Formats: sequence, structure tokens, C-alpha cells
Amino acid sequence: MKILIVGDIYSKLGRKAFTSGLAKIKEKETINFLIVNGENISHGKGMNENHYKWLLGQGVNVVTLGNHAFHNKDIFNYINEAKNIVRPANIETEYGVGFVTKNYNNLTITVIQVLGQIFMHGNNIKNPFLVVEEILENTKSDIYICDFHGEATSEVIAFGHYFTGKIDIIFGTHTHVQTNDACILNGKTAYITDVGMTGALESVIGVKKDIILKRFLGQNTLRFEPENDGKTQFSAILVDYDEQLKKVSKIETIRIIE
Ligand SMILES: [Fe+2]
Ligand SMILES: [Fe+2]
Repeated sequence: MKILIVGDIYSKLGRKAFTSGLAKIKEKETINFLIVNGENISHGKGMNENHYKWLLGQGVNVVTLGNHAFHNKDIFNYINEAKNIVRPANIETEYGVGFVTKNYNNLTITVIQVLGQIFMHGNNIKNPFLVVEEILENTKSDIYICDFHGEATSEVIAFGHYFTGKIDIIFGTHTHVQTNDACILNGKTAYITDVGMTGALESVIGVKKDIILKRFLGQNTLRFEPENDGKTQFSAILVDYDEQLKKVSKIETIRIIE
């Protein structure tokens, strides 16, 4: 089976790039399970219910979030009823869940998300290694997939090595920059440090670049605005899972610029 995982979909151009990129991939591949990171889909911060439903309409099986999970307040109105959203498991909240288990072709697929602790704003982020270990101990699933939402590449890499053989697919999100290190760790775990962003190409991680440049030069009060014009990038990984051998057999990165 083929599992497609799409990196942080950022605002309007992200939605455009997602539709177009997905259509292109589907011309060549049959996608059996589709995961996207949606933490930036609504104006760069969070996900409103309309955009969540829009993703489901595009065939998405699971949406992961991140540090922006609750920045669009609409999420509080629907996340507890939503069946296809995973927010970070290592934060304390009564809203949403940190992992979900789905069925595909008599297989159970569990998708987990955790936040990294290094350079991540916000207090009370619990140790992601220990939290995931506990989830693995207390769930039973044929396939485990984890979105590690981290800023520091070293933390994601260490996580990948720690859970090699225990989690089938480990992918990083949050930096919005695709890394060139996709591999299968020890023949068992499909891994990439960051899937990359789906959104504006000529921007600073989705935000209008002029705003970010001015902020770096001292105008700290300027508000972030998504870049809504220009070229787009679509960033994803495609993983083959061998249902007979019960393990991943291939990982490839996808980056489409239009
Ligand atoms: Fe993001
Ligand atoms: Fe993030």
C-alpha cells in the first residue's frame, strides 16, 4: 500500500498547491492512505472547521496539527467530535486526541503526533520520547506512524533512531523546509527529518518575506501575513508499505514547484 504524507499546508497558496500536487501524484499512483499536516491551513495559524472538512473532501484520512493547533479558536468548537485529527500528544489539554487508529484493508494504522521540546515555545511540553513510548505500550496496531513536530533537526533524528523498528514511519514537520535525508532506518522505519511545506515558494516559511526581513531588522511589532501570490511548492513523502512482509519497503520525497 502507498501512504502519502504532505507537509504543513500553509494558507491559501498551500491549499492551491495541495489540490494541484495531489492531482499530479494521482495520475501516476494509487494513494491508499493520506496524511497531511494542517496546522497552518487557515491563514497560516491553525485550522478552522471549513478547512478541515475541505481536507476530508480531498480524501485525507488523518490531519496532524502542531504548535499552532489551537491558534484558530474555531478548533475548540469541533475538535472533540472530529474523528480524523491528531494534535500533539505531549501537551495537556482536554481538547482533541494525541493519536488515532484507523482501519485500512484489515490493517490498523495508528497515527501519533508529538511536539519537540527544543526551541519550541510554550510551557508544559512533556518529553516526547516518554509519551510516545507510553502510547506504544498501551495500543495495539499493525502500522504506527508518528509526526514529530520539531524545530531542532538533532531532536528529530534522535527520535528516529530511538523508535527504529517500533514505529513504521517517522516524519518531521514544523521547519517548513524539506530535508534531503529520507531513508529506511535499519531496514524497518521510513524516516525523514522534515517533509517540508506546501505553500508559497517565495516567502519565509509561508509568511510574506518583506515582513520577516523587517522584523529581523528590528520592527518587532509587524504582524505575520501569509504570502498569497507567486509560485507554490508542494512537499510530501510517499512510502510503500509491503502488506505481506508487514514492513515499509520504500520512501521517496516529492517536491513540486509551480
Ligand atoms: Fe507549520
Ligand atoms: Fe509548527
